[in-house]
Amino acid sequence: PMASRMYHEKVIDHYERPRNVGSLDKNDQHVGSGLVGAPACGDVMKLQIKVGEDGIISDVKFKTFGCGSAIASSSYMTERVLGMTLEQAGAIKNTEIAKELCLPPVKLHCSMLAEDAIKAAINDYKKKRLTTGSKKAGHI
Ligand code: FES
Ligand code: FES
Repeated sequence: PMASRMYHEKVIDHYERPRNVGSLDKNDQHVGSGLVGAPACGDVMKLQIKVGEDGIISDVKFKTFGCGSAIASSSYMTERVLGMTLEQAGAIKNTEIAKELCLPPVKLHCSMLAEDAIKAAINDYKKKRLTTGSKKAGHI
């Protein structure tokens, strides 16, 4: 049918069974939160990471109010970044996501949401650590 041709099966899989949906405690000093929107369509994505003392992403959750491609992109992104360093996670390009999920060009901006969201989450985490790090001697 037409519907299954419009979306690649990997997109459908992530869309029907999205991984890591939910929220982390945004007040947790080890949690970074990113909230971004797509100007093109108004869709919104929230992505949160929890980072261990070793600098490794140990937990990740997302909530996406958007199209199937945006949901699939964020689901896929959460799978990718688990176990990564912040540097590795921040280097993931939306074009990699789009390629992996076989998104058509018109859906590129949906995968951009996932790249923007992980970057925003990393920045939020880093900012938190900067402001609390000096107060907690020996914590870093
Ligand atoms: Fe809705 Fe692109 S048309 S996000
Ligand atoms: Fe807006 Fe896909 S159409 S994120």
